[in-house]
Amino acid sequence: SQRYDGLIDRYRDRLPVSDTTPIISLGEGNTPLIRLNNIPRVLGCSLDIYVKYEGLNPTGSFKDRGMTMAVTKAVEAGSKAVICASTGNTSASAAAYAARAGITAFVLIPDGKIAMGKLAQAMMYGATTLQIRGNFDDGMRLVKEVADHAPVTIVNSVNPFRLQGQKTAAFEIIEELGRAPDFHCLPVGNAGNITAHWIGYCESSASHGDNLTESCAFCDGNCAFVKGAACTNRPKMIGYQASGSAPFIRGAMVDHPETLATAIRIGHPQSWDRAWKVMSESGGWFAEVTDTEILAAQRMLTMHEGIFCEPASAASLAGLINDVKAGKIPEGSSVVLTLTGNGLKDPDTAIAQCQGAQGDVEKARMLTIDANLDSVRSAILGFM
Ligand code: F0G
Repeated sequence: SQRYDGLIDRYRDRLPVSDTTPIISLGEGNTPLIRLNNIPRVLGCSLDIYVKYEGLNPTGSFKDRGMTMAVTKAVEAGSKAVICASTGNTSASAAAYAARAGITAFVLIPDGKIAMGKLAQAMMYGATTLQIRGNFDDGMRLVKEVADHAPVTIVNSVNPFRLQGQKTAAFEIIEELGRAPDFHCLPVGNAGNITAHWIGYCESSASHGDNLTESCAFCDGNCAFVKGAACTNRPKMIGYQASGSAPFIRGAMVDHPETLATAIRIGHPQSWDRAWKVMSESGGWFAEVTDTEILAAQRMLTMHEGIFCEPASAASLAGLINDVKAGKIPEGSSVVLTLTGNGLKDPDTAIAQCQGAQGDVEKARMLTIDANLDSVRSAILGFM
């Protein structure tokens, strides 16, 4: 049929499900791959840049790709409750898919450090929300501890089914472009998503006929990929971190991560080893971006392309801009940026960034005026 029934249905032959698996789906995946029309010109480069707009998933982030698999497998195994630590998007997604499945969700979030939209989601979908006096890394440690003492399934990306769902983003990109891009840039927090994309690219190249031999190093045997493939159809993976939360750039865990991009305010990534492997296998690299660069990139995407992503997502463009300036991306290359979450998730940061100093019309295109024709007319003329 013409119906799109979510990514498990779409890719069931490449996912660990059977005909009797009870699929929990909200129609996730199948997100737009948008070619940037204006930003390459603004940057003065001749790159072919696409954004994979994951903010259009059912709960507004890429987490839904992993969550449909994680919750489906939890239900299949008879689990009655799921739990996660989260900087906001995982908790929103877990809450929604648990509601859909009729099971309970517990979410641990850092008190005061999650974006307003994400908090609203966890609450509305009916998750039991535990705000902890600690950061994401504290929450992650607690979730792993408590899962040994209570009948709850962890749905963070340490759950291998999460990466299985998330790998499908790479399938979609290859189908649309007809090949892998030369470079794929993502924001990195826990490093689950960059790992999942690499699994997806590798599996695609495997299904394109490469002769593969060893077993997979990335997903505990749950995927069809086999390590060590000689393959030409895989991108260099580039992972960008916020400067204040950049363990992969420091080469060591960061105990007090800070960044305005709260989604990636993580100092102890769970997929540390796997992400390093992704880099050595793909020939890619990690780099850092400042909060100022992140906000500038976020604004560039809205103002020049009409695409509103959350701050963490804009790290992928911010980093690309730096790497283009540094000459690390050859002219003519194709690049995919993952825009991991929707801009509506974090209205506070967006509004704050648009409220420039008083009278700064470039920043704040908002005026409060009297309700009469003269005022409206002179306001319009003032902006032309
Ligand atoms: N972008 C957004 C919008 C995110 O929410 C996250 C992670 C990332 C990027 C980084 O992805 O962890 O796979 O490297 N958010 C998690 C959460 C931690 O709890 O929502 P990663």
